[in-house]
Amino acid sequence: MISLENKDIISILDFTKEEILYILDISKRMEEGEGSSEILKGKVLANLFFEPSTRTRLSFETAMKRLGGDVVGFDELGTTSTVKGESLRDSVKIIEGYCDIIVLRHFLEGASRLTADSVSIPVINGGDGASQHPTQTFVDLYTIKKEKGGLENLSIGFLGDLKYGRTAHSLAYALSNFGAEMYFISPPSLRIPKDYLEELESRNVSYHEVESLSEVSSKLDILYCTRIQKERFSDPVDYEKVRGIYKLSKAVMDELNVKEDLKILHPLPRVDEMDESLDDTSYAVYFQQAHSGIPVRKTLLAMVLGAIK
Ligand code: CP
Repeated sequence: MISLENKDIISILDFTKEEILYILDISKRMEEGEGSSEILKGKVLANLFFEPSTRTRLSFETAMKRLGGDVVGFDELGTTSTVKGESLRDSVKIIEGYCDIIVLRHFLEGASRLTADSVSIPVINGGDGASQHPTQTFVDLYTIKKEKGGLENLSIGFLGDLKYGRTAHSLAYALSNFGAEMYFISPPSLRIPKDYLEELESRNVSYHEVESLSEVSSKLDILYCTRIQKERFSDPVDYEKVRGIYKLSKAVMDELNVKEDLKILHPLPRVDEMDESLDDTSYAVYFQQAHSGIPVRKTLLAMVLGAIK
């Protein structure tokens, strides 16, 4: 029995392999329709989004409502008292009196940890700056497990913006529990930061850094494609240098040497790195991936709020 009751979800590194597998198992049962639909009746989620979001915010909202709970919150900083100068700490100390759980998305790394340290209700990190996005990782793992039948010993390529891509950071950490061989494919300016590599090394992960997908494509079971995060560049000239550097399409895939059962994931949104022609190929699972946000986030909310032990 694994309990997440009252636990914060800030970093994927806070979860053991056993906890991860247990959460994925409950998520599967949740998707299959097991359990009451009213288990969170009377509970209130505060969705505090200081950065734009479609999937994370709406899937948390849907998950909460489908389990009988209510949702309050905001989706842009401009409508909050932050613009009058209120600190994040003061804001969340007030909001904790209005709700039972907080999901926070913030542009600053460490904002979720600060919030968790400031309030006595559970806090879920919905993405903090370029750091981590742990609930996306549970969605990604759920998708990979479903597509591949398991998580052990897979070869995974992370493609694109590995410097700012928080989803790639969290997923690499999570897969370090499962003997993954990792290929980090990026231009030199967007390589995965050293801190992440050092953590992976301490976990005995075998990894490779390359610039071109074609160098490693034949080895991959999973290709995790990411958007170049324009909003995180301090100099627009630097963004222009890497804009559009990787463009996957059906035609590109036809030319590449890849495994027949390769699956392509993407946390979305996409910009120009994946053409719509890819959507109908057997490789594409990113829409299913986004839809898995519902059972996975239902599970996380229900477990943290103590409705599922
Ligand atoms: N994958 C993800 O975090 O998407 P949103 O930014 O739309 O929430």
